[in-house]
Amino acid sequence: MDCPDIMKPEQPSALQVRGLTKRFDRLAVDALDLTVRSGEFYALVGPNGAGKTTTLRMVAGLSRPDAGSVAVFGIDALSDPVAAKQMMAWVSDEPMIYDKLTPVEYLEFVAGLWGVDPVVSGPCAHDLLISLGLEPHLRERCEGFSKGMRQKVALAGALVHDPRLIILDEPLTGLDAVSARHVKGLLVDRVRAGCTVIMTTHILEVAERMADRIGVIAAGRLVAEGTLAELRQQNGHNDTSLEDLFIALVNVEAAAA
Ligand SMILES: Nc1ncnc2c1ncn2[C@@H]1O[C@H](COP(=O)(O)OP(=O)(O)O)[C@@H](O)[C@H]1O
Ligand SMILES: [Mg+2]
Repeated sequence: MDCPDIMKPEQPSALQVRGLTKRFDRLAVDALDLTVRSGEFYALVGPNGAGKTTTLRMVAGLSRPDAGSVAVFGIDALSDPVAAKQMMAWVSDEPMIYDKLTPVEYLEFVAGLWGVDPVVSGPCAHDLLISLGLEPHLRERCEGFSKGMRQKVALAGALVHDPRLIILDEPLTGLDAVSARHVKGLLVDRVRAGCTVIMTTHILEVAERMADRIGVIAAGRLVAEGTLAELRQQNGHNDTSLEDLFIALVNVEAAAA
C-alpha cells in the first residue's frame, strides 16, 4: 500500500553536490550545485570543456575539489571516501582493463578487490557479461578486443559489486549500434531495479530518450535542468529541435559570462 508522502521517511539523494569547485589554469567547475534523486536516470550534457568529466571525477573520488561538498546517499564522500565508493560505480570514458586477463578473470579480479564472495560474484559476473553480448569472448584475453568490447568489460567490472549509484562518462561514445543497445538495455534494467544512473553524453537523442531529467552544464555551472519538456518551456521554445534547444541554453550562458 502506498503511504501518503508525509509518512514516507526522508530518502537521501543519490548525489548531492554543493559549491563544487575545481581550478586548473582556469576555473573548470564553478561552485556547482547538483542534486540527483534516488532511482532516477540523470543525463549531464554540455559542450566540450564544460566541466562534466572534472565534476564526475571529483564525485568518484579521483580528483580533490578545491571547495565544496559531495554526498552519496547521505555519505560525505570527501571525509568517508571508502564508504561512498562502496555505493557507487565509476566508468571512465577511457576505461582501463588488464589486457592479459579474459573478461571472466577480470571480473573475478575486480570482485576480489571489493571483497565480494565468489559464490555471489561468479554468477553475477557471468550474467553481466552475457547481457552485454560478450558471451562468445568470455575466455579470450582482452588484448585483442575492440574499443567497444573493452568498454563493455570495464562497465561489467564497475557493476560487479552491485553499486546503487552508477556514474558513466560518455559510455556510448565509440560503440557500434549493437553494443550501444546492450549498454543502454543494461542501464535501463538497473534503473528499473532501483539503481540511480548518472551519465554524461553529447548524444542528445540518448539524453532525450533515456533520462528522467537532463542537466545542462556550461563553463562549470549548471545552466538548466529538468525534463526535456521543462527545458523547452523554460527556454520558451516548445517546437525547437533538441539540438537548437541545447545550443540556445549553452549560448545564453556564454552571453552572460
Ligand atoms: N587534468 C587537467 N589539467 C588541466 N586542465 C584540465 C584538466 N582536466 C580538465 N581540464 C580543463 O578543465 C576544463 C573542463 O574539462 P572537462 O571536465 O574534461 O570537460 P568536459 O568533460 O565537459 O568536456 C577544460 O577547460 C579542460 O581543459
Ligand atoms: Mg569529458
